[in-house]
Amino acid sequence: MVVVANRLPFDLEVQPDGSTKARQAPGGLVTALEPILSRRHGAWIGWPGTPDVTLDPTTADGLTLHPLTLSSDEIDQYYEGFSNATLWPLYHDAVADSEYHRVWWDSYRKVNERFARRAAEVAAPGATVWVHDYQLQLVPEMLRKLRPDVRIGFFLHIPFPPSELFSRLPWRKQIMRGLLGSDLIGFQLPGGSRNFVRLARTLLGLATSGGSVEYEGRTVRVGAFPISIDSGGQSSLAATPEVHEAAKQLRSDLGNPSKIILGVDRLDYTKGIDIRLRAFGELLAEGDPAARDAVMIQVATPSRERLQSYITMREGIERQVGAMNGDFGRIGHPAVHYLHQSFPREQLAAFYVAADVMAVTPLRDGMNLVAKEYVACRVDGGGVLLLSEFTGAAQELRSSLLVNPYDTDGVKEGLRTALTMPAVEARRRMRILRRQVLTHDVDRWAADFLSNLEGVRDRVAEARAR
Ligand code: ADP
Ligand code: F6P
Repeated sequence: MVVVANRLPFDLEVQPDGSTKARQAPGGLVTALEPILSRRHGAWIGWPGTPDVTLDPTTADGLTLHPLTLSSDEIDQYYEGFSNATLWPLYHDAVADSEYHRVWWDSYRKVNERFARRAAEVAAPGATVWVHDYQLQLVPEMLRKLRPDVRIGFFLHIPFPPSELFSRLPWRKQIMRGLLGSDLIGFQLPGGSRNFVRLARTLLGLATSGGSVEYEGRTVRVGAFPISIDSGGQSSLAATPEVHEAAKQLRSDLGNPSKIILGVDRLDYTKGIDIRLRAFGELLAEGDPAARDAVMIQVATPSRERLQSYITMREGIERQVGAMNGDFGRIGHPAVHYLHQSFPREQLAAFYVAADVMAVTPLRDGMNLVAKEYVACRVDGGGVLLLSEFTGAAQELRSSLLVNPYDTDGVKEGLRTALTMPAVEARRRMRILRRQVLTHDVDRWAADFLSNLEGVRDRVAEARAR
């Protein structure tokens, strides 16, 4: 199997002595795919995280990595531009304004073409090629032209918007046709799948039925496949004495607060970090007993740091944290511990184990794997998950405390409820959440998607044979 994704699972940096150093790339896509691909000994085509770097294919962790070079201009126009300043905000409910530039689109097309050509070179006859995410929506069609023998799956990790938003795109038809080059198109939620099928009918005038679209003499299947994590691996990691010890140490380093509230996100404006800070700040300002001696840890992974929308958001959040610590901190005891850093998995697991309340408050999120990681790590059966209704995860994790992130009072109330929830109730909810996350892991997700993909092609072969 060949995976095609914008990023490789590791950012590969060339050292002054010419050797390369690997660091796990940020984001949920890598977290989900890396364990599956390693187990299957697949190949992965992607960008190594630095512009203008040309690297030979390498093998790491049972995976063959095929680094694809992107120039600085392409990073500006294809990645930061079209992918992250046009598509990203538009697909996330237009929570920020999208920009539409023809030069960005040209670059997006050219880079997609390059990914498609590389996939065509790497894939064995009849191979399965699995293309991922919004950066590469044109690859399926381009690849099909080059290699009609391969099976093509596409999975979108972020939301697929309703037609009212998608239709704003000047290149909406090209993107739809790009995706329709696939045999199977997977979305996180049934809503995304429905949006796509509706657009195929209304925008392209294609014949559709429930989960399929007739396109150029083929039937393209469309469906929802909610992604997950390596739940067993995450749970086992959290159960190690090292992680247990690190969580205890963390609590003690924080001065044994009454409660620890945790947030873990890429520093992205879709994640609603400001919302949870505001809710906690208001509880502190009101002297609410629920928040007495509570502390918040906000881990914010650096992300897309050159984009103005991200720079503005970071400044806002850092101002908010500074103000809260100024107003409510004491010497040696800030109200919010803000960590703008990446952490190893073991350290993140210790944060999850130590946290009494996990606050996940995005305005919109395709899935949100952090919520699932928290649940998987609570091997002790404790902890409360406060979760935005507008995450994909909310559709499965119904026993979390669901909140509307646009409703500050509602988030505040949710936080208060989480901080004061009786242990018996918290454990009851966590038991249900754990059952869900441990039985719906990323292996099951991949097996489900791939068996559906095989099914599509088998039916095609049978039809041809008849
Ligand atoms: P997204 O894909 O939008 O970044 P997800 O919540 O689905 O959001 O996935 C984020 C992934 O990145 C999770 O696996 C999480 O553990 C990881 N992650 C987030 N913050 C950090 C960090 N500071 N250090 C290391 N990994 C992080
Ligand atoms: O699924 C969300 C996602 O955008 C992935 O496509 C991406 O790899 C990840 O988050 C991190 O973003 P970036 O690659 O832009 O750093």
